[in-house]
Amino acid sequence: MTADSFTNEYGFGTFAVHAGAESDPVTGAVISPISLSTTFAQTEPGAPIGYEYSRSANPNREAFEKAVAALEKGRHGLAFSSGSAATAVVLQSLTPGSHVISVADVYGGTHRYFTKVAHAHNVEVTLVHDIVNDFDTAIKDNTKLVWIESPSNPTLSITDIQKVADLAHAKNIQVVVDNTFASSYIQNPLTLGADIVVHSVTKYLNGHSDVVMGIAVTNSDAIHERLRFLQNAIGAVPSPFDSWLAHRGLKTLHLRSRQASLSAQAIAEELAQSPLVVAVNYPGLKSHKGHNIVLKQHRDGLGGGMISFRVVGGAAGAAKFCSTTKIFTLAESLGGIESLCEVPAVMTHSGISKEERAQVGVYDDLIRLSVGIEDTEDLLNDIQLGLEAASKA
Ligand SMILES: Cc1ncc(COP(=O)(O)O)c(C=O)c1O
Repeated sequence: MTADSFTNEYGFGTFAVHAGAESDPVTGAVISPISLSTTFAQTEPGAPIGYEYSRSANPNREAFEKAVAALEKGRHGLAFSSGSAATAVVLQSLTPGSHVISVADVYGGTHRYFTKVAHAHNVEVTLVHDIVNDFDTAIKDNTKLVWIESPSNPTLSITDIQKVADLAHAKNIQVVVDNTFASSYIQNPLTLGADIVVHSVTKYLNGHSDVVMGIAVTNSDAIHERLRFLQNAIGAVPSPFDSWLAHRGLKTLHLRSRQASLSAQAIAEELAQSPLVVAVNYPGLKSHKGHNIVLKQHRDGLGGGMISFRVVGGAAGAAKFCSTTKIFTLAESLGGIESLCEVPAVMTHSGISKEERAQVGVYDDLIRLSVGIEDTEDLLNDIQLGLEAASKA
């Protein structure tokens, strides 16, 4: 099967396995070789045979970009050396003097870029708590971009992407969605009206916690041109080996993402019943504020593999939970095959002030879980172990 033979009649899993993964035309290798060469021969000056220089384009990076674009139902993918680099390049694509509206509970590193770096390029970012209701008051004459993270990190709040896209497009404003938490299997923001989708590939797309990488996908030729120019000009590109590894991980995204989501649903339901839990944030729960949006925005109403919850026992309880579980490893990051737990207030989101954290629900006793693909029953038992320890802290 070649990339050209793809039509919309194929399902997600078929695209995941085959998109951008043609057999090698020279050797017939079914799995593409890793193209480590930084430079490529030319037949005469200015006439390359294929590629020129690996920062500008590389076979492995291009194959990965093609594959993710297919899974996001987009036409163009551009890979970066991290999710943060993808975020930075999208912000730098704006003309100086632009204004951005963003959801307030974004990933801590995105928050850091918006509040501490963007102004160096004369881009101002307004953080809002409810982007649909706050849109009219936040908008300015120079607003050029709306930034959505849905589900958000770490409070799992859901934004109605279609609704925001309608509001923004009526004012000629572009919409970016950070789709890291849902992954391309669960949600495709371009089909909901977003102009750009970004991912920390480090998470679900690679899925094995061994690559740091990012990607941006768009259907717009103009946006693609601008971002591609910056990808080359700034040079924050992934290595061929990382691109190859991430492409290998991507081929099982549908299996990993579905399994993580099914286990997360079972865990969230158990947490919601537990007297040792103060509150649970999980979009797959009927009680979640955004559940109705999930039903129309996510594949099969899946809630994804991420959960956050508050424990009885306060900050000490949260710390005890994380040092007690045997399968959930205490570590930052998410979206890998292995289950992880962390305390955002002192780890991923520690750079945000306590007051600001409290405003978006990142309390000191909040635990974030990244549910892996281990056996559901084992995960449930591990959670119980952690809860009992937390309640005695
Ligand atoms: C939602 C989200 N977006 C972006 C990033 C940044 O990605 P990276 O760590 O690959 O730079 C992260 C990292 O945790 C994230 O969780």
